[in-house]
Amino acid sequence: MAKARQKTEAKASKNKLTEAQIAVHWKEEKYFYPSKKFKAQANLTDPSFVKKFSEKNFPKCFDLYAQLLDWDKSWKKTLDASNPPFWKWFVGGKLNACYNCVDRHLAQHKNKAALIFVPEPEHESAAVITYQELYKRVNETAAMLRDFAGLKTGDRVTIHMPMIPELPITMLACARLGVIHSVVFGGFSGEACGLRAADSGSRVLIYADGYHRNGKWVDHKPSADIAVETARKEGQDIDKVLFWKRYPGHYRSESPMIVNRDFFVEDILKDYRGQTVEPVSQDAEAPLFLMYTSGTTGKPKGCQHRTGGYLAYAAGTSKYYQDIHPEDVYWCMADIGWITGHSYIVYGPLALGATSVLYEGVPQFPDAARPWRIAERLDVNIFHTSPTAIRMLRKAGGDEPKKYNYHFKHMTTVGEPIEPEVWRWYYEVVGKGEAVIVDTWWQTETGGFLCTTKPALDPMKPGSAGPPALGIYPVIWDENGQEVKPGTGKAGNICIRNPWPGIMQTIWGSSERFVNQYYKKYCKNPKSKDWRDWPYYAADGAVLPADGYYRILGRVDDVINVAGHRLGTKEVESACLSVPDIAEAAVVPVVDEIKGRVPEVYISLKPGVSPSKAVKDKVVSTIETIIGKIARPKQIHIVPDMPKTRSGKIMRRVLAAISNHMDTGDITTLANPDIVAQIRELVQGRVTGPLQDGPEDIKLFGEEK
Ligand code: WT7
Repeated sequence: MAKARQKTEAKASKNKLTEAQIAVHWKEEKYFYPSKKFKAQANLTDPSFVKKFSEKNFPKCFDLYAQLLDWDKSWKKTLDASNPPFWKWFVGGKLNACYNCVDRHLAQHKNKAALIFVPEPEHESAAVITYQELYKRVNETAAMLRDFAGLKTGDRVTIHMPMIPELPITMLACARLGVIHSVVFGGFSGEACGLRAADSGSRVLIYADGYHRNGKWVDHKPSADIAVETARKEGQDIDKVLFWKRYPGHYRSESPMIVNRDFFVEDILKDYRGQTVEPVSQDAEAPLFLMYTSGTTGKPKGCQHRTGGYLAYAAGTSKYYQDIHPEDVYWCMADIGWITGHSYIVYGPLALGATSVLYEGVPQFPDAARPWRIAERLDVNIFHTSPTAIRMLRKAGGDEPKKYNYHFKHMTTVGEPIEPEVWRWYYEVVGKGEAVIVDTWWQTETGGFLCTTKPALDPMKPGSAGPPALGIYPVIWDENGQEVKPGTGKAGNICIRNPWPGIMQTIWGSSERFVNQYYKKYCKNPKSKDWRDWPYYAADGAVLPADGYYRILGRVDDVINVAGHRLGTKEVESACLSVPDIAEAAVVPVVDEIKGRVPEVYISLKPGVSPSKAVKDKVVSTIETIIGKIARPKQIHIVPDMPKTRSGKIMRRVLAAISNHMDTGDITTLANPDIVAQIRELVQGRVTGPLQDGPEDIKLFGEEK
């Protein structure tokens, strides 16, 4: 193990390659061709449909997506681009997202399963919620939110819930009223939830008492108390917290309810039984939801998505790229607390009247064959997951899929680059050589897919997302704004030249940040009113071979993609700095066999503080409290000083090179070049030395002779 590492290190240092360059030098993969059987039924089979999305038909082409929805009032103009980069889509149109996902399916499909809920405990059977039941439950919930919680169109509400049917029910109830929902991933801490609730100005929180995760019962209620307190400190009062019970009739939390603040939904809903609420006819541009995500600065930003454009894009891409037909059983194993779940568990599939499977737990519980048992039982034929889950299932049970009698026709991978070797296992073993794969590249900000092959129609190339989605026109630019032409083998920054309906409207409460983050970099003329001058900057590196298949290399900003989820290094660093003993903190991404990347933390201590395990434990627990377990660092290194430029800037790149056993490159310009060798010995000493396993074994500076 140690030897292998030394070898890789020696190789990397000999060639002096950066990680991006190594990625670029990955060999070209051979194509895989989809089966004819699938091709015959693919929704995109009609070539004339594809042609309608050619650049000369922009933006009118997107009417084809909007036409998948029912509008109360038709739009007058597809795109109003008169105030870049604040686009307006389907101008003048009116619709309701909940009506489109629920009501309109009743006439023909009220008995059809809208959601199939699979609890994590395997002895609990799956629960089917038909469109009719969904309609009833959403209406009653909407009546409660309006009349009991006092929510009205345009208000924001923060939802911190696990993967149970009451989560999409609550979201759809909000959408019915035009209340803007902000779902915070269940795994985030109460503090993280409280900060987001305050930023969005939510007066109401919606929670569940608890849930099952990886074989354990998670008591979720205490998180609500912390969230309320955190929001209050930020100046935002929370009037009401509504609790769904995971088991109706049984409160499963140890934590007491607070009188006049906390309410059980099931108690209140009794007063609203059978009530219906007229769906509020919303302007196409009315915000539908906020989704907070990490960026380059410490504070997470609320990506604000519009009703009409977003729903049209989610429905269109679900139809043509997830290729969902009415008879399909579709399972996206993401969490609704992330954008993937919003677009491709809830809004896209339900807008199409499809059946969407909702799984409460982790894929490997109780063993790595669980997903295949679920697929067999429910006859799932479209499966959607992330490279992290695929790597994990492969490692823990590489032969398991063969033992189960399910047949996927279509599989999605999303969230991070997938290694070609992992892709082939997904194709050959999980997909049994029959299913097509789409590797979909996109972001929280973009609402839906940006690059992906057309399922069953385009050949697939392991490790490459592939060509742009319909109506999307990407370009790769270098730092100087020169185009990196296809086939040059060089990496650059991928941008989208044109607006599309799924793109976020703005950052909640900060239009300036929106412009600076996504549009400033390659805008040559900030006064221009021509959309062509306002390309979208994605902050991802990419390469483009001559065949036009984009290969996404990953983030080029201070964002670490951990298991397909975004973590801002600055967020983790500011959490570390809230520990009084810490003088400086730097967080870097480290390659991880399963999760792709994980954060590793470097800290230096204030004078007079001695390095100890206690300090490190404090840092870990603080990170978990402020952000959540997802941000738990792999290692914490206490260093005597950080490598710095002469102007005092911490050189995270140098630290990342050390953590990843890579060459640090030229360090002679640093203010303190000698520190690099010291840190390297400190960090890598553990690999070759006798102390190898577990976080306790990390060498602390000053502890070693
Ligand atoms: C970042 C966005 C949008 C779905 C979930 C993640 C990376 C996303 C791919 C892919 C390579 C990918 C990018 C992107 N990413 N999909 N197919 N291949 N990288 O949403 O949390 O907003 O993260 O995930 O780096 O910028 P997100």
